[in-house]
Amino acid sequence: MTIPTLITRRLRLEPLEPRHGRDVEAYARLWEVARYTAEVPHPYPTGGGIAFAEAVVAERRHGGGHVWVVLEKTGSEAIGSIGLDLFEDRRAAELGYIFALWLWGRGYATEAARAVVDFAFVDLGLDALHSHAAVVNRASCRVLAKAGLRRIGNVAFDVLPERGGSMIGECYRLTRQEWRS
Ligand SMILES: CC(C)(COP(=O)(O)OP(=O)(O)OC[C@H]1O[C@@H](n2cnc3c(N)ncnc32)[C@H](O)[C@@H]1OP(=O)(O)O)[C@@H](O)C(=O)NCCC(=O)NCCS
Repeated sequence: MTIPTLITRRLRLEPLEPRHGRDVEAYARLWEVARYTAEVPHPYPTGGGIAFAEAVVAERRHGGGHVWVVLEKTGSEAIGSIGLDLFEDRRAAELGYIFALWLWGRGYATEAARAVVDFAFVDLGLDALHSHAAVVNRASCRVLAKAGLRRIGNVAFDVLPERGGSMIGECYRLTRQEWRS
């Protein structure tokens, strides 16, 4: 199964493919990008972007693999990744993203997140979206709020052992009903 390309005012969200792997590696390898994420390895392994994309493509055969790379409309380089991790019952998903440090602060993460939120409710027909961000990761908390998710509390979430094993995060949710209104 494939997933569609999503177009926003300034961005194009293309389904992640192995050909994007090198671009992904260029931004994912930076500590500033990895530090508050649960799973982006640091140091980032050489070839890790391609391996990640291959795994995502394999998941699409089973109805998963909802990961896009984000490109500026006029650009040819991926400058961010954004995805939905479906829950086992496929009625809800977790939203996650990372963006290239050199383009932070332009509203790109928010613009991409809004497109993926709409996709989740319109195309996938989900009942709810969830996400969380480390309390200290104010930019990500802000992106979630600007994308329409509502803060519902705090949560301790698992991160890679070398990052301490867990972090305190702000927990966000958007139900289908809230999204409609
Ligand atoms: C989080 C991240 C995706 C944001 O990307 P971005 O394209 O810069 O996001 P946007 O420009 O759409 O919005 C960022 C918002 O955070 C705000 N912000 C940035 N740094 C901030 C800080 N230190 N304190 C408070 N707000 C901050 C910006 O002002 C902006 O809000 P505004 O539009 O109200 O002014 C990017 O910083 C990133 O890739 N971080 C590393 C990976 C990561 O943390 N991923 C999320 C894991 S949960």
